Amino acid sequence: MKHLPLTTIEGRAALLHALAHIELNAIDLALDIVWRFSGMPEQFYRDWVSIAKEEALHFTLLRNHLLGLGFDYGDFDAHNSLWEMAEKTQDDVLARVALVPRTLEARGLDASPAVKNKLVSVGDKKGGEILDLILKDEIGHVAAGNHWYRWICNQRGLDPISTYADLTRKYDAPRLRPPFNLDARRLAGFDEVELRQLAS
Ligand SMILES: [Fe+2]
Ligand SMILES: [Fe+2]
Repeated sequence: MKHLPLTTIEGRAALLHALAHIELNAIDLALDIVWRFSGMPEQFYRDWVSIAKEEALHFTLLRNHLLGLGFDYGDFDAHNSLWEMAEKTQDDVLARVALVPRTLEARGLDASPAVKNKLVSVGDKKGGEILDLILKDEIGHVAAGNHWYRWICNQRGLDPISTYADLTRKYDAPRLRPPFNLDARRLAGFDEVELRQLAS
């Protein structure tokens, strides 16, 4: 995908395809959380079912946009890093919410403005609008991750800050790199201590 410039239709399609693939994984991830982990409050399951619905909308919007360029989902190779983290964290709901929604999905918040600008800069206004809608919904998904992460930490008597550092080491989570979308992260419920740690 890297070798195709975004100014070409194929390059733009490759980028949209990569995003569509992430959304398809995100549907599976949201539903996986629902069926895999038992004993959580009813609202936990309701949250992730409605997240799955939003991920399905994101996938559909991106796929339709891709179809408009003459390509379809499946036309390019796709990477598997989201699902690899899902597999690594399959035995612990705390690790799952710590490292999938509030780490990998939160990285999506960081990446969104630059990707949107790239699309708009090559004249893809529609793509930019889809990215805006996705960002708005993803803030909610990360917020659910933060809410349930803290809830489980509280249940287990764990400190959320030090536990997160432990989990990133234990599961070899990707290092977070700037630029950070601090506004979006704030809206998604990261507190100031967590945001300061990102910057350091
Ligand atoms: Fe999404
Ligand atoms: Fe999401």
